[in-house]
Amino acid sequence: MRFENILVEKKDSLAQITINRPKKLNALNKVTIIELNEAFEELEDDTKIRAIILTGSGEKAFVAGADISEFADFSVDEGTRLSKLGHDTLFDYVENLSTPVIAAVNGFALGGGLELAMSCHFRLASDNAKMGLPEVSLGVIPGYGGTQRLPQLVGKGKAMEMIMTAGMISAEEAKEYGLVNYVTTQEELLPLAEKIASKVIRNSSDAISAAIRAVNAGFEEGINGFNVEIEEFGECFGTEDFTEGTAAFLDKRKPNF
Ligand code: COA
Repeated sequence: MRFENILVEKKDSLAQITINRPKKLNALNKVTIIELNEAFEELEDDTKIRAIILTGSGEKAFVAGADISEFADFSVDEGTRLSKLGHDTLFDYVENLSTPVIAAVNGFALGGGLELAMSCHFRLASDNAKMGLPEVSLGVIPGYGGTQRLPQLVGKGKAMEMIMTAGMISAEEAKEYGLVNYVTTQEELLPLAEKIASKVIRNSSDAISAAIRAVNAGFEEGINGFNVEIEEFGECFGTEDFTEGTAAFLDKRKPNF
């Protein structure tokens, strides 16, 4: 895979995508969004890959937002299309991948950067990270899922405050609010992400995909998450992983998924 603005590395069943525009604090321009979509699509299709870590290059930023220079002169229609395309190709797409995606937030995660981290299945951050949705300071609102996913993660009141003040919170505050699961040093961030990913990889990827679908269903309008859970639970009984997982337990050995 050859890309202009991202790096993709694979090590056994773990892949890492690094957004690589450090001079622009990894801001998400159109090309980067297209490349991320292609990379995620390829990794999702690669049956060997069982977890993905998403991070930013450099020591300063995960992603400092959507690239403001690209949309500063957009019309109402262009703004609507920008948001819809982003939802479809990247933000909703990542949230609904079958392959688990862990965000390693290594610095500023602002606007589209925080929205991208929130689209990932869970997040950890380095202690220098700063997170926020500064869009209203630009006269716009979060347009890549931030108005929906931030309240899901931190609660409505805190999300309202973060959106209205356009302020940044520290990594420690983010952990306190439940926005990130762990905070560590910059040096330890990727090793910790890999350690957690290795625990994920040991488990049944079929069951993990089913769990992602069931959890996400609970946040979808008009869908009963409990019913989806019942269906997904049942489907697991027809997988080779279930046969292997239960047989391994009864044989007192480790499963070979
Ligand atoms: N879009 C486009 N370019 C961006 C960007 C963004 N979201 N965020 C940073 N950049 C660019 C800057 O324009 C600058 O480019 P230049 O060197 O060609 O002038 C470069 O990245 C470095 O940023 P700079 O502002 O000089 O770094 P800083 O350390 O002084 O400030 C931030 C860091 C994150 C506080 C500041 O860059 C910022 O506020 N960025 C925008 C955040 C935002 O509003 N995001 C939401 C967008 S919807």
